[in-house]
Amino acid sequence: MTVALRAEKLTRVFTSSAGDVHACVDIDLEVNEGELVVVRGSSGAGKTTLLNLLGGLDQPTSGRVWIGDVEATALSEDDLAELRREKLGFVFQSFGLIPVLSAAENVELPLRIARTDPAEREERVAEALRLVNLADQAPQRPAELSGGQQQRVGIARAIVSRPRVLIADEPTGQLDSRTATTVMDLIGELVHTRGIAAVVSTHDPLLVRRADRVIELHDGRVTSVSSGSVAEADVAAIEEITDAAPPVAQPAQSEEPAGEASESAPLTRAEARARRKRR
Ligand SMILES: Nc1ncnc2c1ncn2[C@@H]1O[C@H](COP(=O)(O)OP(=O)(O)O)[C@@H](O)[C@H]1O
Ligand SMILES: [Mg+2]
Repeated sequence: MTVALRAEKLTRVFTSSAGDVHACVDIDLEVNEGELVVVRGSSGAGKTTLLNLLGGLDQPTSGRVWIGDVEATALSEDDLAELRREKLGFVFQSFGLIPVLSAAENVELPLRIARTDPAEREERVAEALRLVNLADQAPQRPAELSGGQQQRVGIARAIVSRPRVLIADEPTGQLDSRTATTVMDLIGELVHTRGIAAVVSTHDPLLVRRADRVIELHDGRVTSVSSGSVAEADVAAIEEITDAAPPVAQPAQSEEPAGEASESAPLTRAEARARRKRR
C-alpha cells in the first residue's frame, strides 16, 4: 500500500493573552491511498487544527507533514500553494460555494485557477458532477439546491483536480442525519473507488461506518485509534465469544451447511475469522 499522507509529531500551540492552547499535541498519522480516516472528537478537541495542518492551511509549531514524498512543512509559501492546488482537495462544513456561480462553475473554479485548458475543464467538470449524481443540476445556483446537493457540489469541486488527498472538516455538520449519512457514504465510495487518501472530521458517532480507521481526539491528543467501525477491543471480544461458544450457539443467520454445526470441536480463532469473512 502507498502512503499518500504522513504526519510526524504534529504539534500546534496557539498563544493568546489567556495563555497557551495546545490544540494538537504530538500527532502521528499515516493515510494510505484509498483509505478513509475519520477524526472524531467533541467541539474544541482539535479536529479543525489537525486538518488545517495536514492540508497545509496552517503551519505546525513543531512536527512535519508529507504529501506523498514531498515534505509540505519544508516548502515555501508559493510551493505549498501549488502543492495544495495539485494534490489536495478540501470540503468544508459551510460548503463554501460562490452564490453567483452555477454548480458547474463552482466545480470548474479550481481548474480555472490551475489554468487547465477549456476542453479538459468541461470534461472534468461533467465527470465530477456525474460522480456526485448532480449532472442534471449543473446550471443551478447554490441557492436553488438543497443542503445535501450543495455539499455534493462541494465534494465535486474538491475532487475535480483529481487530488491525492481529500481533507473534509465536518462536511456533514450542517446536514440532517439522513442527508449526512448519504454524503458520508458518497465520500467513502469516492475514496475507495478512486484511491484517494481522505481525512474527514466529525463529531457524529453515526458517521464512522464507512471509515477504514477512526481516530479519537481529546484536548489535542489522540486518545484512541480503531480500525473500521468496530473497535479493536470489540473485535477481540467477538473472537473470544466465537472461540468459547459451542458450535450449536452459532447465530441463526449463519449460511454454513447444516452438517458443520454438528461438529463437536470448538472453532479455532482462524476458523472463526474465516467463517465471518465468508458471511
Ligand atoms: N486561531 C486560534 N487561536 C487561538 N486558539 C485557537 C485557534 N484555533 C483554535 N483554537 C483553540 O484550539 C482548540 C482546538 O480547536 P479546534 O481545532 O477548532 O477544535 P474542533 O475543530 O475539534 O472543534 C480550541 O481550544 C480552540 O479554542
Ligand atoms: Mg472544528
